[in-house]
Amino acid sequence: MHRFEIQKENDIVAARNAARTILSRLGCSVIDKTRIATAVSELARNTLVHGGGGHVEMEIVHGDTETGIRCIFIDNGPGIVDVKNAMVNGFSANGSPGNGLQASQQLVDVFQIDSEVGKGTRVEIIKWV
Ligand SMILES: Nc1ncnc2c1ncn2[C@@H]1O[C@H](COP(=O)(O)OP(=O)(O)OP(=O)(O)O)[C@@H](O)[C@H]1O
Ligand SMILES: [Mg+2]
Repeated sequence: MHRFEIQKENDIVAARNAARTILSRLGCSVIDKTRIATAVSELARNTLVHGGGGHVEMEIVHGDTETGIRCIFIDNGPGIVDVKNAMVNGFSANGSPGNGLQASQQLVDVFQIDSEVGKGTRVEIIKWV
């Protein structure tokens, strides 16, 4: 498991590049690499901007017949009051486009948000490649 801090703007780029490096080892297609890199960027940005910073854990995972990458974004920020609502395209707390969560979900195979108000947010994604 690889752990990367997400505390500043540059850490988002670092997380995206780390995912790309892991995927290269898996012989991932360019299109899937781009999909995952996009989701990682969006979720890392949420961790930084909305969660007040945190970290991401990345690892290669093995299913019955497939191999993939799992990324878990964790922060101890304010949490999300209504996760369902936050997933709606165009919902944003701060005037940004508000598409990041839904776009990310569409780019991966497993997408799970656990959030508790006042405690923080955990977003897990898996993409089989
Ligand atoms: N880690 C987090 N901690 C707290 N709130 C979050 C977190 N991630 C998302 N949210 C909430 O969910 C909303 C929707 O997130 P989403 O990424 O879809 O849109 P956005 O970040 O506002 O805009 P965009 O990603 O399009 O720039 C955010 O505006 C924020 O209120
Ligand atoms: Mg976002």
